[in-house]
Amino acid sequence: MAASLLFGVFFCVFSVGVGLWVICNHFVTAHIPAGVSQPLKLRVLDCLFQLLFTWGMIFEKLRICSMPTFIRFLHDLMPLKEDPDVMVTDLRFGTIPVKLYQPKASSCTLRPGIVFYHGGGGIIGSLKTHHKICCRLSKESGSVVLSVGYRMVPQHKSPTLVKDCIAATIHFLKSLDKYSVDPARVVVAGESAGGGIAAIICQQIMDHPDLPKIRAQILIYAVLQLMDFQLPSSQQNKNVPLLREDFIFYCCLNYLDINSSWRSTILKRAHLPAKVWEKYEKWLGPENIPERFKKRGYRQVSPAPLNEAAYLETNVVLDVMNSPLIAEDEVMSQLPEACIVSCEYDFLRDDSLLYKKRLEDSGVSVTWYHVEDGFHGVFNTLDMGYFQFPSSTKILNAIVDFLKKL
Ligand SMILES: *[C@@H]1O[C@H](CO)[C@@H](O)[C@H](O)[C@H]1NC(C)=O
Repeated sequence: MAASLLFGVFFCVFSVGVGLWVICNHFVTAHIPAGVSQPLKLRVLDCLFQLLFTWGMIFEKLRICSMPTFIRFLHDLMPLKEDPDVMVTDLRFGTIPVKLYQPKASSCTLRPGIVFYHGGGGIIGSLKTHHKICCRLSKESGSVVLSVGYRMVPQHKSPTLVKDCIAATIHFLKSLDKYSVDPARVVVAGESAGGGIAAIICQQIMDHPDLPKIRAQILIYAVLQLMDFQLPSSQQNKNVPLLREDFIFYCCLNYLDINSSWRSTILKRAHLPAKVWEKYEKWLGPENIPERFKKRGYRQVSPAPLNEAAYLETNVVLDVMNSPLIAEDEVMSQLPEACIVSCEYDFLRDDSLLYKKRLEDSGVSVTWYHVEDGFHGVFNTLDMGYFQFPSSTKILNAIVDFLKKL
């Protein structure tokens, strides 16, 4: 009795301590740019996020479970809100769980289809966390949406995540008539890591002779390369919530199964040989990014001399399954038209800018929507009550607009 009381008191004090630590840490480390709308809301959101990660890390250190497992356990407790206008069905494509969203309003023609890949760095995020986005997309664009519940880190690393998505997408493309989807109007879409997956899928399945062609790709602040973490946006937004450099490295290194001790080597750009940097300079170099994005304190970092051991372990970043931004020109030129959403205060903003330029240089049409006051993850605040940012609705509208014009 006394022991459990003592434990209870200890636990309460410890929890309050963790909470206070997270808040103090937020004020010391988080950078909230002056241009973000509703900075207070972003601060609260960041503290909640950091609280979640901190508890996850505590559980990981205590060897109770890994941080991602802890967060996904919480995801699974989330209640799902039904939308009266959308019919949601849980299915499995093989072993891969998917959710299918179909507008209830009757339609006498075949509907457009959207295959959606959620974000979360391959670590967090689930069918549930992106349920609201999929409902709204389905309802407002009148499309059938298929959301893919791919397997994730730490149990599954690169390239399982992408392979699951490819398998689910191919399966969907082969069974379009079952869901009354028009084969000429299937698009792929994703946010953050899921945006990267959408881009990779367009590159990987375009040569499939017996599959309908993907009509378009919607890339919402996508991760499009894992080679260079010294782009202007990475420097400018390194401590901007909700995606900080720390979290990026945690996700990337775990996903690629690279020892975390290489982080500083990667930041010095010493993990790849000079000839590789030279080869890709024409696509990754800062001259590809418009001047106005290079203002806020960007300083070019020249690659440090190569660390051979690091290169042996990190060269997987040069695989187009991890960095679709460096696909060859002949691949780029065959890609479907794109809608690219980028946010000004996002570590990954320049991935979008560089991919946009590569597509345009290859003759692919791009519709670009840049959120001037946006940060990474803002789209996810859609329908989140107090936490909703107005930009989330604007992004949805931009995407729906794009879809309607296809
Ligand atoms: C990562 O590298 C460090 C330093 O080289 C080493 O001590 C550690 O054992 C490595 N970790 C794993 C999991 O290989």
